[in-house]
Amino acid sequence: MAVPIAEKRIADFENMGFGMFIHFGLYSQLGRGEWVQHIEKIPKEEYMKLADTFTAEKFDAKKIASVAKAAGAKYAVLTTRHHEGFSLYDTCGLNTYDSLHTPCGRDLVREFADACREVGVKPFFYHTTVDWYNPDCKNDFPKYLQYLRDSVEILCTNYGEIGGLWFDGNWWYKDRDWEEDKLYAVIRKHQPNAIIVNNTGTSALGRVGNPEIDSVTFEQGRPTPMDREGMPKYLAAEMCHTMNAHWGFGGADFNYKSLAELIETLCSCRKVGANYLLNIGPTGDGDVPFMQEALLYGIGGWINKTGNAVYEGRPCGVLGARKDFALRANGKLYFFVHDLAIKGNENVTVEGGGYGPRSFSGLQDKIARIRWTDNGEELSFTQNGTDITVDCTGYPYGTNLVVRIAEAELA
Ligand code: GLC
Repeated sequence: MAVPIAEKRIADFENMGFGMFIHFGLYSQLGRGEWVQHIEKIPKEEYMKLADTFTAEKFDAKKIASVAKAAGAKYAVLTTRHHEGFSLYDTCGLNTYDSLHTPCGRDLVREFADACREVGVKPFFYHTTVDWYNPDCKNDFPKYLQYLRDSVEILCTNYGEIGGLWFDGNWWYKDRDWEEDKLYAVIRKHQPNAIIVNNTGTSALGRVGNPEIDSVTFEQGRPTPMDREGMPKYLAAEMCHTMNAHWGFGGADFNYKSLAELIETLCSCRKVGANYLLNIGPTGDGDVPFMQEALLYGIGGWINKTGNAVYEGRPCGVLGARKDFALRANGKLYFFVHDLAIKGNENVTVEGGGYGPRSFSGLQDKIARIRWTDNGEELSFTQNGTDITVDCTGYPYGTNLVVRIAEAELA
């Protein structure tokens, strides 16, 4: 059985490779994550008062878009409405629980979409499906689903061309009919090129859903290779990931991953052809926490030194030892080499796992020459049929890229 060919929008989505997620809502003001209303059982009337203090005065969409751009993200996904039911866009009279009816008074989704386009980052919209505000979600589901479709129709018609819709929440009512066909038809009608995602949550990583969905999700879980043989349609894959332990702002969450871990996680996604969607959680007034911004700049710095392989590279069956692997792009092979040491005086080279020969297997091409993407240094190698051993030199003193990429030209 064959692997289906990816439709253009899905191939384009895979080529974007790396995106930035933004969780922002009323909950951001409390600094205890986006589930605080539910977890702390805050009565709805009390929770809704957060709308009276929602100013978003530091929500600077241009800044957010430029941070995504600097990180090397090709798309950004904003929570236009999260489970709390509050919208960052003008609901055009569906209700008044939106950013327009708060001291903020602005349409943050419009600012976000415009700012993203200005810097060349594709705007995507996260939208909740479960809703803790609208009582119809619990009591009159068909009516609620129409409200959901009307909401999504606003997003699909008022904000220009969007990259995609990212739904989340169907796992709340596992046994109900969410009338997904009708919801996705709204998107296909107005935004034929939009990617449709519906998060399957942490307990169903990579599960294939409705036929209109374009990508499977791996929430907080390293993606596994997809077996696409015999699938009716080529599906992309995406892993969404938090930098600390919360999506929405966690004011006292200091459990940040290291820059090295984030770079390795991005690589481990690309290893299996999956996109990596890394989250930020702005503070209550919309500011991007310094730590989050810094980590994103770090990733961008790494991408700038390693070239396009991380976007364009595709799995090609070439594997190395431990974490090492290779991708193929534009008639070249890219070896992703982990844990190299810094060369030089032993007083300064204690870090890393050494340098020297690294072996890869499963090659289908003969290699002509190999160079590091970061400094152009040429590497010697010996190839024996489908096996190759590359003499991976260590980092020059002053650098350590965590994952170093060597570009191989084919003979
Ligand atoms: C989960 C959470 C949600 C978060 C999402 C992001 O489904 O319910 O709060 O937005 O994951 O992937």
